[in-house]
Amino acid sequence: MMRKGVQKIFSEVYETYELTNHVLTFGFDILWRRKAAREAARAGGYYWLDVCSGTGEMAQNLSRLSDGKVKIVSVDFCYPMLAKALEKKHIPNVNFTLAEASVLPFYDETIDLITISFATRNISTREEILRDHLEEFHRVLKPGGHFVNLETSQPPSKLIRKLFHLYIKMTVKPFGSLLSGYKPGYSYLAFTIPRFYTAEEFSSLLYRAGFTRVTYKYLLFGMSAIHKAVK
Ligand SMILES: C[S@@+](CC[C@H](N)C(=O)[O-])C[C@H]1O[C@@H](n2cnc3c(N)ncnc32)[C@H](O)[C@@H]1O
Repeated sequence: MMRKGVQKIFSEVYETYELTNHVLTFGFDILWRRKAAREAARAGGYYWLDVCSGTGEMAQNLSRLSDGKVKIVSVDFCYPMLAKALEKKHIPNVNFTLAEASVLPFYDETIDLITISFATRNISTREEILRDHLEEFHRVLKPGGHFVNLETSQPPSKLIRKLFHLYIKMTVKPFGSLLSGYKPGYSYLAFTIPRFYTAEEFSSLLYRAGFTRVTYKYLLFGMSAIHKAVK
């Protein structure tokens, strides 16, 4: 799907986006963001960037883990999602910025930490497009800076993978549509989950985009994964 299509989906589902995620993952998405944020915050530094920030849940976690010296910027290309984030009064030291993730409004080598949660899949499942974005993240990171990616993955057990895909097929589209007031975007979101990379494939992609020291951890039998990489 083209960028405009993705932008349109999130402009339509922004009101119910968080609730739908929490219901469909039984709240696991909240725990996984917290875990990814804890791992990310260990990277230290002062300039943190959350890309494809949506309604700001990851930025909120980062904010809680940061001291007063850290500056956090959250970028997304969908204004209604960012506006929803701005409604949350309790996100100190975060600046929300409207930007496309492949043309980040930062000079080279200025950021200590980049996080992204549940959005890599929405950038694109096409390798060349995804690699362009990962290269852009690499460009703005300082040497030694960290990248942390939380995304759905593919469980290594064939049986669990099949059950996971079946669960996605049976729930994301029908419940996503229902909870969002019959917005069509959830067919696309459900479509991308079984087609996204395995953790190993995504690690290779990170290496190809210039990152080093790539590691990953599975969450809930590999239904999601946290990748960490260093510039
Ligand atoms: C599934 S939401 C994830 C939001 C949030 N990170 C979270 O953890 O819930 C994906 C977000 O990525 C944004 N997005 C997708 N592609 C983008 C791009 N190329 N540039 C900027 N934002 C993008 C969408 O607007 C949407 O808000």
